[in-house]
Amino acid sequence: MTSKLVDGFGRNIDYVRISVTDRCDFRCVYCMAEDMTFLPRQRVLTLEEIERSARMFVANGVKKIRLTGGEPLVRQGIVGLCRNISAIGGLRELVMTTNGSQLDKYARPLLDAGVKRLNISLDSLRPERFRAMTRVGDLYQVIRGIEAARAAGFQSVKLNSVIINGTNDDEILDLAGFAVDNGLDITFIEEMPLGQVGRSREHALFTSEQVRELLEQRYRLLPSTENTGGPARYMRLQDHSQTRIGFISPHSNNFCTTCNRVRLTVEGKLLLCLGNEHDLDLNALLRRYPLEDQPVMIAVRKALRYKPERHDFSADGEVQILRFMNASGG
Ligand code: GTP
Ligand code: 5AD
Ligand code: SF4
Repeated sequence: MTSKLVDGFGRNIDYVRISVTDRCDFRCVYCMAEDMTFLPRQRVLTLEEIERSARMFVANGVKKIRLTGGEPLVRQGIVGLCRNISAIGGLRELVMTTNGSQLDKYARPLLDAGVKRLNISLDSLRPERFRAMTRVGDLYQVIRGIEAARAAGFQSVKLNSVIINGTNDDEILDLAGFAVDNGLDITFIEEMPLGQVGRSREHALFTSEQVRELLEQRYRLLPSTENTGGPARYMRLQDHSQTRIGFISPHSNNFCTTCNRVRLTVEGKLLLCLGNEHDLDLNALLRRYPLEDQPVMIAVRKALRYKPERHDFSADGEVQILRFMNASGG
């Protein structure tokens, strides 16, 4: 039997996030610059290479794969890719993070293709602000997508709200209310300074503690030890048992000691940590060894020794990582 993947700090790596495209139909202000150029297609992993990578990781103990982007649903062939990955023996769950813009069409096919859970970005419930934050998005289109996901019957549908000080912090109770009314989970996220996105992030931090204080004006928050295998800490709400509130606090509550994940970027770089530049050119290895997985996995195991201990984002928003979020796997 193959042994598990373990990094230099003894952390078991059983979660891989794969960015299937850097393209997106939105241009969220925390993720991209307004005038992004995307990679030429020949630089992007093929569907076969993504599937092969997924198989190799699962054969080496990976239990959870999350497809991200960019917007994963703009990648041609995404449903077939989901079908093939979810059928890999030994994988516990295939999940996806999406902006929701195409879910009215894709929710049911994704469920049928074996996707277990969806995380959907939703940062505002005000159409004009939603448009400003995504630069192009249509709130009602996303709400239709969320509704389709809910109706399809996924194991869970979770909303992701990146809270930016002075931009959408006045909507925290509304966003939580929307999650409660629809029986969905919601996670509030502190913005991370990746890539030059064309706005200053100097005063952008709105901490999870501030979010919690606001929520307590309306809800009784109950401690919970639940974990979905990602970085969120969860709380339950008294009287609203269908909704969990998650907090992802890269600045105010570092979660790296329990890190269990690596990312595969859209170009096939195995990124060892979102907040650092260390990577392994997996794509080059896949192409050098088209028929043998073993040398590729030996290189992966070696690279894991260099997975950094933690990210260290500066709280004043200074950009230390030039790579944009959409190419990194979110
Ligand atoms: P679950 O499977 O539901 O736990 O999802 P998740 O939180 O792992 O994934 P999702 O794609 O919803 O990501 C939510 C937020 O967490 C995004 O802002 C991600 O960038 C951030 N995130 C996920 N993993 C990491 C990580 O390893 N490091 C950092 N710094 N942020 C992460
Ligand atoms: N900081 C925190 N979260 C981000 N996301 C995208 N960019 C950032 C950032 N700079 C979130 C999206 C999506 C998830 C994959 O990552 O909102 O829900
Ligand atoms: Fe697209 Fe997601 Fe980035 Fe927004 S956060 S621009 S929806 S990839």
